[in-house]
Amino acid sequence: MTATETAEAYRVFGTVHTKGHSPAYERVGVAVADSAELLERLVALPPVKRQPNLLLAAVRYLDGPVDSGEAFVGWALAHWEQVRAVILAHATQTNEAGRCATLLPLLAALPQPLALIEVGASAGLCLYPDRYRYRYDDTPAFGAAESPVTAVCATTGPVPFPAPDRMPQVVSRAGVDLNPLDPADADDARWLESLVWPGQQTRLDRLRAALTVARTEPEPARIVRGDLNERIAELVAGAPKGATPVVFHTAVLCYLPPEARRAFTTAMRELPCRWISNEAPDVLPEIDARLPCPAPTDRGVNILALDGEPVAFTGPHGERLDWFAQAR
Ligand SMILES: C[S@@+](CC[C@H](N)C(=O)[O-])C[C@H]1O[C@@H](n2cnc3c(N)ncnc32)[C@H](O)[C@@H]1O
Repeated sequence: MTATETAEAYRVFGTVHTKGHSPAYERVGVAVADSAELLERLVALPPVKRQPNLLLAAVRYLDGPVDSGEAFVGWALAHWEQVRAVILAHATQTNEAGRCATLLPLLAALPQPLALIEVGASAGLCLYPDRYRYRYDDTPAFGAAESPVTAVCATTGPVPFPAPDRMPQVVSRAGVDLNPLDPADADDARWLESLVWPGQQTRLDRLRAALTVARTEPEPARIVRGDLNERIAELVAGAPKGATPVVFHTAVLCYLPPEARRAFTTAMRELPCRWISNEAPDVLPEIDARLPCPAPTDRGVNILALDGEPVAFTGPHGERLDWFAQAR
């Protein structure tokens, strides 16, 4: 990525991805895109370390200012060595339990019980869909009665909502991540909090509540360290007999080079499992090619698919679910 391409990534972050979600990051994204000095420092980093979410989280982790674009850029330049060290030591590991609201209709429709296997699990907060409550549009919330987590989701189209008494039955929770985060570790929690965009208090509250759920689960998710392509076969083989192994991933494959994505999708077609993907447009071209309409470009979306068949566009943090009429 050149300085021009990096500037464009920050401008799109500020004008499309965070638009209407985080006014502070709208300003900061554009200010970084306009700062030749900061862009020069960013392009000296490895390409995977130049992403907006990583720089912005690093500055927040260090308690730098994010309310004004000018103050952000000035602070990041003045503290660059510290910022750079945090960037190099961390990765974008945003863990958003709210994404379970987009997965739930597919999970509930599969043959039960389920053996969940998440690739790119971060702290594993998406491995507890049966431990959360859900509110779709204006309907009453349903799900785990005492849960401190409620995922709220606006929908369009013929979403196959699960009946409130037909929540997924999860008999095992497993995952893999290059760097599994520990819900009980204070520094991991601080990094996860730094990745939540400023002004998104509901997301921050949900993250804290989901960390509590993960910390207090009697049989917590088992997340192995490693590359998803190297560990996926053993995870599927380890699913309990009699359960449906479901491999899923949300906002993960964008971090893999194209050949590694292809290796993973081949594994998904060959291994004895069901496959739920929730990734941005352009990440899985064979799924994009089956879309009934082009993905919107005026807002961030992911494409939700079951076994390679697209069923809906989703909001990046699970806030929207736009089900395709064709995908009944
Ligand atoms: C943006 S986070 C998403 C976390 C979670 N799926 C969610 O939606 O809340 C992406 C995660 O993928 C992991 N990851 C990236 N590349 C990976 C790979 N090749 N193998 C395993 N995990 C990977 C990262 O470490 C990070 O925790």
